[in-house]
Amino acid sequence: MTKRVAILISGGGSNMLALLRDMEAAGHPARPVLVASNDPAAGGLAKAAGQGVPVAAVDHRPYGRDRAAFEAALLDPILAAKPDILLLAGFMRVLTPAFVTRFAGRMLNIHPSLLPKYPGLHTHQRAIAAGDAEAGCTVHEVTPVLDDGPILGQARVPVLPDDTPDTLAARVLVQEHRLYPAVLRRFAVGDRTPIFL
Ligand code: GAR
Repeated sequence: MTKRVAILISGGGSNMLALLRDMEAAGHPARPVLVASNDPAAGGLAKAAGQGVPVAAVDHRPYGRDRAAFEAALLDPILAAKPDILLLAGFMRVLTPAFVTRFAGRMLNIHPSLLPKYPGLHTHQRAIAAGDAEAGCTVHEVTPVLDDGPILGQARVPVLPDDTPDTLAARVLVQEHRLYPAVLRRFAVGDRTPIFL
């Protein structure tokens, strides 16, 4: 039986699309059942719908600082989709420990740095400012600590002398699109052996 996958996005959804495309392959151990966003204008929603995947949007803004109320609303479409696996793919809201605990062991995130370096925001700018020779991305299990949790895969790229945060982000994003689908294929069959690209 293939694993049911729900994906949470906030923006363009290029990682989400890479995951959807990979799941189209014959014999893939997972299939998409929902793409949901905290932003009704997220470009990725139309892309997912175009791929025939059910979509949902729950705008976080009316909830203000009440994260629990926002998450309660977000849970409705997620629980209705009955996912086995929840993937964060450019989902830019911090989730409460209660939400994370509910999906313990079955929620993954992709982060644009070589964790444990640079949790949080502005990862590429920070890597350049630090003079790092390498940057990259990490797929990890989500735990209540932000951008923490067991690492399931990392991909590395060089930082070039004339890099800006944008040029570095673009180079890392190409690797994100390889890494996340590769990790999902393993994770969906219960294999948590890390992948290093
Ligand atoms: C990706 O680079 C992802 O790693 C990053 O946002 C981008 C989303 O792009 N995620 C985070 O920064 C999470 N803290 P996408 O919408 O095109 O997949």
